Amino acid sequence: MIKIKENIDLTPFNTFRLKQAAEFFVIVKNVQDLRAAIIWAKENKQPIFILGGGSNILISQKIKGLVIKNEIKGMEIIDKNDDYALVEGKGGESWTKFVNFTVNQGLYGLENLFLIYGTVGAAPIQNIGAYGVELKDVFYHLKAINLKTGHEKIFSAADCLFAYRDSIFKNKLKGKYFIYSVVVKLSRKPNFKLTYAPLKTELAKRKITEPCLRDIVNVITDIRNSKLPNPGVLPNAGSYFKNIEISERKFKSLLKKYPEMPYFQSDNKKIKIPSGWLIEQAGFKGKRFGKVSMYEKQALILVNHGGAQAKDILALAEKVKKAVNKKFGVDLVEEVRVI
Ligand code: EPU
Repeated sequence: MIKIKENIDLTPFNTFRLKQAAEFFVIVKNVQDLRAAIIWAKENKQPIFILGGGSNILISQKIKGLVIKNEIKGMEIIDKNDDYALVEGKGGESWTKFVNFTVNQGLYGLENLFLIYGTVGAAPIQNIGAYGVELKDVFYHLKAINLKTGHEKIFSAADCLFAYRDSIFKNKLKGKYFIYSVVVKLSRKPNFKLTYAPLKTELAKRKITEPCLRDIVNVITDIRNSKLPNPGVLPNAGSYFKNIEISERKFKSLLKKYPEMPYFQSDNKKIKIPSGWLIEQAGFKGKRFGKVSMYEKQALILVNHGGAQAKDILALAEKVKKAVNKKFGVDLVEEVRVI
């Protein structure tokens, strides 16, 4: 039996800790609950909004309709051979617990993605990534439920149209599916991705030449803790903007002016520039505007020092965008989903 509640404060359910309400709210713990919630929304002619860990959203106003909080949990190895294992995580499971489970099983592939806030079900929506690995690298398929028809559909990696912090679920199918579970294909033999410079440097510093899975998890934990604010202490939603991707031509003209500018080659022949660097150069790193600032150790992260409202966050983001555009002639794009 599900219990639909009315006018629920969403402060505990978003890591920016913004005080906004849901018109209707329900927590689903299994697929029967979910189906009942879908039927309720249909009967009451209410739109549906799916909430995961609330770690990548900025709620700027009351959410109309029914907010469904996904708490369908569980994870298991569903198949394996000598080389690979397929591991399924239910959508409402904590991403970090899921990664920890795979590491404990001695499976390789997700270790670089340890300690990313949010849920398993949200991970494919923006193709989460860190330290040289993206979800798409190990993704096998996902099961999703159509919020209109209630039908289940399996999406292969190709169906998901994964790109840098992007997928079909942010575009054509935005808000149309409930991601019930995600299956990843992990290696049973070591195949570490250690190309990301800070990871390599940190392992060398610790004199670890043949790392095990736990070594990587420990190093990732330390790197993240040294740069990224814990939303439990300093509310934030991770990177506020994406790193920008620019054409070769634009890149060359910028590099002439800023020879020290860091950059990476992107998958799609474009050049990626860390937006954190652009924001720092524009003078916003650690600079506080009332209750908000761009984090002092990582300028890409917008933090709420307590009591900020969505309008404070949006105003700072706008200031940053304007300043970066003025200085570099490029446009920052939000990674955070503004609702
Ligand atoms: N940099 C600066 N100043 C800053 C921040 C960064 O100059 O204040 C420059 C430095 O040159 C640094 C480079 O940017 O070497 C890259 O910085 P960092 O390694 O911290 O990573 P990032 O590009 O800023 C991305 C992801 C993070 C992910 C890290 C590690 C995006 C939008 N963000 O950040 O993901 O953890 O790489 O792989 O792609 C998130 O998506 O919420 C997130 C935290």
